[in-house]
Amino acid sequence: MTNPMKAGELNQHFQTRFGNQPRIFRAPGRVNLIGEHTDYNDGYVMPAAVAFSTYVAIAARPDRKLVIHSEEFPGRFAFDLDHLPEKRTGEWCDYILGVAAVLRERGIDLQGANLLVHGEIPIGAGLSSSAAIEVATALALMSLSAAQLPLTAVAQLCRQAENTFVGARVGIMDQFVSCLGKAGHSLLLDCRSLEFQLVQIPSGLSLVVCNTMTRHDLATGAYNTRREECEAGTRYLKKWNPAIRALRDVSLEFLELHLQDLPATIAKRCSHVVRENRRTLDAAEALTEGNLDRVAQLMLQSHESLRDLYEVSCHELDVMVESAEGLPGFCGGRMTGGGFGGCTVNLVRHENADEFATRISERYRNRTGISCQVYLCTAEDGAGEIT
Ligand code: GLA
Repeated sequence: MTNPMKAGELNQHFQTRFGNQPRIFRAPGRVNLIGEHTDYNDGYVMPAAVAFSTYVAIAARPDRKLVIHSEEFPGRFAFDLDHLPEKRTGEWCDYILGVAAVLRERGIDLQGANLLVHGEIPIGAGLSSSAAIEVATALALMSLSAAQLPLTAVAQLCRQAENTFVGARVGIMDQFVSCLGKAGHSLLLDCRSLEFQLVQIPSGLSLVVCNTMTRHDLATGAYNTRREECEAGTRYLKKWNPAIRALRDVSLEFLELHLQDLPATIAKRCSHVVRENRRTLDAAEALTEGNLDRVAQLMLQSHESLRDLYEVSCHELDVMVESAEGLPGFCGGRMTGGGFGGCTVNLVRHENADEFATRISERYRNRTGISCQVYLCTAEDGAGEIT
């Protein structure tokens, strides 16, 4: 979704600050309907881009500086393009520096530029504010060079920036859907081949995103630990079948055969991933057929597995999921994103969405004492320039 108001204001602010006319690039956040913690196991995910976006306004400078501002985030940063920091600085500009570093590694000639960033994606809510700033930055920086990369390559280089520069070993899901999302659809993405299929979201359904208002920080430990546990699981399973390259290659039958030979924690992590891949393919089919009961069942199973086997849920997320049960128009929900706080995603019939928002907020507040935020979303198009 382009937001002409937002773009107009950003344009104005850019001109006031830097004195010339920018080009503006937008990249959206996302919700993931199902397929959680499967992307870095070469598996399947089914996310959709949403309207919350990050905007990057850019214009060339005559010198070799990269000057970075934002109206929401603190600090004004200026870097010499020929001496960019080699390690992360711990500031939000790391997402931009990381992308600049990876673009340069790929032989793309960067120019001095002024950047003004406007972010509207709630930070730390698990809606991929990081991927959005990376993708919008990549498009913006590339617009000043002759470089033309396909969006799939943009997603890959943004992920690399986050892995190597920012230090979060995330998978490809967020950057991919931020680049290639499609209005009205979720993407069934094969994270190994990067082939995807658009899965239409039935037109009577809203994506209702409920923010628990508890925060997680992916860059700190737990996410990377889960990844290591999956890698350890792959190493064990490979001993019995050398063709296994990632948990994606493990069938449920094979896993069950060897489950008792794995350390208990590793066995739980592998069980989640192997079953979640299956659930994701099944959910794509069920959504296509309009079998919403089946979708609801799979989403609930996904949540329970993330809670009990993968252990990335938390009390607030569990309460939010339980609070949706039985509300009019509710057609399935679960935690979405990395976990440890953040949001749940719910499929709710349009006509019930407002009431759903009010009632789930009440139920959640009664049990946790926390006032949540609820966003009524639709699936939107991926990143691009705003003209
Ligand atoms: C975060 C990461 C994604 C993915 C999810 C969990 O959002 O950025 O790559 O691993 O967690 O599914």
